[in-house]
Amino acid sequence: MEKITIAIDGYSSTGKSTIAKQLAKALGYIYVDTGAMYRAVTLFAMRNGFVGDERENIHALVKLLPKIVLRFEYNETLGYSEMLLNGENVENEIRTLKVSENVSRVAEIEEVRHMLVDMQKDMGAEKGIVMDGRDIGTVVFPDAELKIFMTASPEKRAYRRYKELLDKGEKVSYENVLKNVQNRDRIDSTREFSPLRKAEDAIEFDNSDMGLKEQFERMYNYALRIINNKKTGVI
Ligand code: DC
Repeated sequence: MEKITIAIDGYSSTGKSTIAKQLAKALGYIYVDTGAMYRAVTLFAMRNGFVGDERENIHALVKLLPKIVLRFEYNETLGYSEMLLNGENVENEIRTLKVSENVSRVAEIEEVRHMLVDMQKDMGAEKGIVMDGRDIGTVVFPDAELKIFMTASPEKRAYRRYKELLDKGEKVSYENVLKNVQNRDRIDSTREFSPLRKAEDAIEFDNSDMGLKEQFERMYNYALRIINNKKTGVI
C-alpha cells in the first residue's frame, strides 16, 4: 500500500497526540511526538541549571547539545513510545508543569530547532509516519500529503490539561494551567524561528466541541482518501 506523511500541528493541549497515536495505529504507521523531544532537551537544560529558577545560560546549553541522545522506545503495555534521554526513561518527568513552564524558552533556540528538525526529517525519510508538533507541516515536512492544524479555545485546552495533571497526581490550579497555556501560545506563535502557524495547505480542525470518535473518523477518512488517490494515480 502507498505510504504517506501526515503532519499534525496546532496549539498546546488540542489533543494532537491522542488523535495522532490512533491514526498511526489504524494505518500501521510510526508515530512521533516532537513535543516530547523539545521537552526532553528542556529537562536536560533544567537538570544542568541552564534554564528555570530565574537562571539562564543558553550558550552553555548550546555547547552541550551534541551530548544529548534522544530515542523513542516502544512500550508494548502502554501501546506507545516513551522518550529516552541519554538512555533514561523520562516519559513522566517531561510532562510535569515545571517542564511545560520552561519548554517554550528552549524551543525558541535556533540550534535546538536545527538539531531536532534534522532528527525528525530522518525519522520520516521512508514516509508511513504521523508526526505532531508546531512546525511539522511548515518546516519539517512541507511536502506532507496530509496536513492538519488543530485548534480549540484556550479555556477548553486548559481544562483538558488541568484534568490530565490532576489524574497524574500533580497539585495544580486551573488558573495556573490556563496561564501556562496562554503563555505558551504567545511564545510559540511569536518566536523568530519556525513560529507556530497554519501551513497554507493544512486543513484547520477546531475540536472545541468534537468528541474523540468523530475527530478520529474524519482524519482517518482524509488519510484513506489521499492514500487511495495515490494508488489510482489521481493526485
Ligand atoms: O506538544 P507539547 O505541548 O508537548 O510541546 C511542548 C512545547 O514544545 C511547546 O510549548 C512548543 C514546543 N514545540 C515546538 O516548538 N515545536 C514542535 N514541533 C513541537 C513542540
